[in-house]
Amino acid sequence: MKNFINKFEAVNYQLSAGCRKEYYGVFSSYTIKKPLFLPMTLQLRVYVPPHPLIKHWLAVARDAGTPSVLFRSAMTELGRWLTYEAARDWLPTQETTVQSPLDTCLATVIDPQIPVAVVPILRAGLGLLEGAQTLLPLASIYHLGLARDEETLQPHCYLNKLPEKFDPQTRVLITDPMLATGGSMMAAMAELTQRGADPTLTRIVCVVAAAPALQKLSAAYPGLIIYTATIDEKLNSKGYIVPGLGDAGDRIFGT
Ligand code: PRP
Ligand code: URA
Repeated sequence: MKNFINKFEAVNYQLSAGCRKEYYGVFSSYTIKKPLFLPMTLQLRVYVPPHPLIKHWLAVARDAGTPSVLFRSAMTELGRWLTYEAARDWLPTQETTVQSPLDTCLATVIDPQIPVAVVPILRAGLGLLEGAQTLLPLASIYHLGLARDEETLQPHCYLNKLPEKFDPQTRVLITDPMLATGGSMMAAMAELTQRGADPTLTRIVCVVAAAPALQKLSAAYPGLIIYTATIDEKLNSKGYIVPGLGDAGDRIFGT
């Protein structure tokens, strides 16, 4: 397990409800639902970067008194800083040489041959997109519209702008601030993988990840990596994350 614990502070985390006593790894190395004696197998990793700007904007977003205009700013900033963290070992690079004013030297640049895609889950994922896009200006943006039924909590797809097929090397970054039951993200992952996206080259950027969503994603996509501002354990009877930040889509768009 130690080999997962690298650039971020380590946090021992235990999920409640039926999963007690299993340590889930990384937080940075915080790994979900795999026994400790199999450290070399693929495991879902969930990173919560301990960055003061991420903590600050999360606090602003959680505050029920934050008006929509400031809530949108918080989403933009969280999208930016979480994407910055996610890009660290995900954006493809290549080695080259450059001629400085004084000498030739080795250099590393972003590899322009490998496609990078951002998939915002509408509506709320749009809130994180602007910040992500400032760091990934050449990425293709594929919108996916999913709405959760208020009664059944099942997602319904109302817009799908995904390509028919992804190049297998495509780096895919999904943005959605809330992973609650996990139904919406599971639906998004199914659409992506059906089209050839590789879960191990996919990163999820969210703001609040809840335990039920992490458990589902871990079971289905063990190579997946999630960057989130926080993890909350509970959902209420209506499927809202507690304490969470409320209805992210409504708060972003003032509805
Ligand atoms: C929210 C959120 C996620 C989903 C999470 O979207 O942005 O997509 O709920 O819930 P789940 O993990 O239980 O599926 P919502 O369906 O409310 O649509 P919106 O973004 O248009 O508000
Ligand atoms: N969607 C939201 O916007 N908030 C929640 O807490 C759960 C799902």
